[in-house]
Amino acid sequence: MDEVKVSCPATIANMVCGFDILGFALEEPKDYILLKKTSKRGISIKHIDGYGLPETPEQNVAGVSLLELMDHIYDGIGFEMVIDKRIKPGSGLGSSAASAAGAVVAANHLLGNVFSNNDLVKFAMAGEKLASGVKHADNISPAIFGGITLIRSIYPLDIVSLDGPPFYVTVIHPQIELKTSDARQILRKEVKLKDAIRQWGNIGGLIAGLMKYDYDLIGRSMEDVIIEPMRSILIPRFDELKKSCIEVGALGGGIAGSGPSVFMLSKDEEVAEKVRRVMKEIYSPLGFDFHIYMTKVNYKGVEIVD
Ligand code: HSE
Repeated sequence: MDEVKVSCPATIANMVCGFDILGFALEEPKDYILLKKTSKRGISIKHIDGYGLPETPEQNVAGVSLLELMDHIYDGIGFEMVIDKRIKPGSGLGSSAASAAGAVVAANHLLGNVFSNNDLVKFAMAGEKLASGVKHADNISPAIFGGITLIRSIYPLDIVSLDGPPFYVTVIHPQIELKTSDARQILRKEVKLKDAIRQWGNIGGLIAGLMKYDYDLIGRSMEDVIIEPMRSILIPRFDELKKSCIEVGALGGGIAGSGPSVFMLSKDEEVAEKVRRVMKEIYSPLGFDFHIYMTKVNYKGVEIVD
């Protein structure tokens, strides 16, 4: 088999308190990649999505991830890749991770699955480095493994798949672009000890809540005293949005990745629908386009669709 089509899920990094270490995959939205193995060395890339992303392999997140993978195989083959991106770049929904993860999973499939998921995460991090200037795996890991993942350590890579109760995920994506590299640049490099203590209490609480299926513990642990206060100023009406969603019953939520999307977790569909209505009411008067996704956690990650 020389050709494969994969779907590549959106992901939400950080899960509020776990900056760069927690993330989960979504059922919607998804990108699609068609990858063909050829006997001609090198990579060719074509985007059919209209986002104007670079098609030179060295400047394309899927391209650099594939080049990284190709450094670990015999010479004499190449790939042709067609990317249909539906996750808008700069949305906070892991658009670059979807391309990077999709490319390496598809290539691995065509090569007879010679690489482990951990190897694929390492290759795909080259794409994140290109997109944001830093290697981080909190979008890549759930995109490849599916579900909710913890990056216990990046060097050496130690990824833990987490269990969790069923959730409804409501995501509002204002159609404004916020580059991860910019949203990282505004962060202070030092953290106060009292904030660190509160944050690791929350991370421990969130993970314990997921493993114990304890919705209340999950909800009260989704608090970020380090990153959110700095980044939320970039997101229109963030505080009001969050407060109002929690008032109608959302367990909690916050900035999706580096923003500008905002997500909320709910225990049941009725609450998720109320959250959607609240989000719409708050953003409708602002005068810019937005899109709301009502979705769930995706436990499969990148999938072969054809
Ligand atoms: N953890 C990263 C950040 C995710 O928040 O900058 C980027 O999508």
